[in-house]
Amino acid sequence: MDQRDFVIAGNWKMHKTVEESKVFMHDFKPYLKNNRCKIILFVPYTNIESCVKLSAKTDICVGAQNFHWEDSGAFTGEISIKMLSGLGVKNYLVGHSERRRCFGETDDVINRKIKKAVSEDVSIVLCVGETHQQRESGAAIESVISQVKEGLSGINNINTSKIYIAYEPVWAIGTGRVANPQEVNQMCGCIRTCISDGWGAGTGEKFKILYGGSVDRKTCREFLLMSDINGVLVGGASLDPDEFGGIIGVANDILNEGND
Ligand code: PGA
Repeated sequence: MDQRDFVIAGNWKMHKTVEESKVFMHDFKPYLKNNRCKIILFVPYTNIESCVKLSAKTDICVGAQNFHWEDSGAFTGEISIKMLSGLGVKNYLVGHSERRRCFGETDDVINRKIKKAVSEDVSIVLCVGETHQQRESGAAIESVISQVKEGLSGINNINTSKIYIAYEPVWAIGTGRVANPQEVNQMCGCIRTCISDGWGAGTGEKFKILYGGSVDRKTCREFLLMSDINGVLVGGASLDPDEFGGIIGVANDILNEGND
């Protein structure tokens, strides 16, 4: 994938039975014709096996929404990269705001997970974003930058083809309130500067940074046209094959327009 190509990721959260995911895959595949984007679908654990099988020989990478930082142990209800790798999973979501808010994941926990992912050489999307209150009080940048720094703390050699960041303002997730593309672009620029400052000049520029929060096929274009945004992380709209396929179509159109 070259630097210009987009990453279009879907996060199904706790939605879809195995049967429903099979129907999705069937209806979604026609949208992959002439695709140039990297497509990741973060599905529930129960759907991984069937989705991996059904997406074989397509551009779809099936990912997991969470994992534990140990390989095994007395951690009831948890699941490890070692177990998921066995099913063919190479992409992982880390630090989604719902994990932070509903399940008490701290920056320290997220950092442990990222260190584990790096040691296993798998790909991750680290999610960061400010709350409504933080934005209102002028603390949005500070909060996001601190999540980036804490999440990546202690990781010396960052492989930018394996670590992506998703900037998802918490107040825009699942609310229908899309953020302002210019403001998102600015935030992505701040994230790049922070990474270059901490991990070496030029590192931030190489990062794939996605926007997430109420993106659909109508709103995605504005974000994808921004200089510092490399893709989108889509929740609700990724559940509908036509809607998610529509976003892939918009992204490919932009890439093809660039070639004219
Ligand atoms: P949404 O979710 O698109 O439904 O707002 C985005 C996300 O949680 O990643």
